[in-house]
Amino acid sequence: MSTRLDGRKKDDLRPIKIELGVVKSAAGSCYLEWGKNTVVATVHGPRPMFPKHLSNSQRAVVDYRYRMAPFSVSDRKSPVPGKRDKEISLVSGFALESVIMTEKFPNTVINVNTLILSADAGTRVAALTAASLACADAGLPMKGLVSAVAIGRANGDLIYDLTKDEEDAPDAVDTAIAITMPQKEIALLQMDGFVNKDDWKKMVSMGFSAAEKVYALQKNALLEKYPVNGDINE
Ligand code: CDP
Repeated sequence: MSTRLDGRKKDDLRPIKIELGVVKSAAGSCYLEWGKNTVVATVHGPRPMFPKHLSNSQRAVVDYRYRMAPFSVSDRKSPVPGKRDKEISLVSGFALESVIMTEKFPNTVINVNTLILSADAGTRVAALTAASLACADAGLPMKGLVSAVAIGRANGDLIYDLTKDEEDAPDAVDTAIAITMPQKEIALLQMDGFVNKDDWKKMVSMGFSAAEKVYALQKNALLEKYPVNGDINE
């Protein structure tokens, strides 16, 4: 295959645009466009957890919510969170928690809200990428960032960053992968479809290299708002 329907090569990501601090009432926030996906992520807290029995005396609880706006897809999405929203919220929260130093804020909650304004496949990875930047924008102590991306197969080719059209291909495989950076550990991995072992290995390594590209853009966005001397990893 030479080019894809939208003109990309198979290892191209869609254009990604990031802006931090867009929601002034939040402790931290991020607006992110990823191809035709649009997402806003906000962070409130850490603040005391109510009701208290939900708190953890050893660390902050990360309450991550993934939601799609009713107008984000062509068939109206019900604003009532369904099973998909709840599952994505749960696993994304676990992924984000792995980079936040929650042990510094016992008995508190950190509310992370991600709202998809327009969707064209890969929304959970766009939301998680934005959420980790919103946490950094909030000044939360973090071990790193979560850089997330989708990898898969469509029309016989292993490709990066599938669109909805590609996800709907008859042989489609869609894998969401989130990597902690700079540690390079897998924080989330979800797959739809079937692949053989060789393709699976290739897809995981594609995920790591695509996550590096996402991480570079995340660092640029942070450095633009918070210039520092030297390497951001130091
Ligand atoms: O968005 P992501 O790839 O993380 O999740 P998905 O469940 O694989 O959904 C793929 C795409 O299907 C979404 O990005 C939307 O474009 C679309 N979708 C939809 O049209 N209506 C829904 N209720 C859920 C998803």
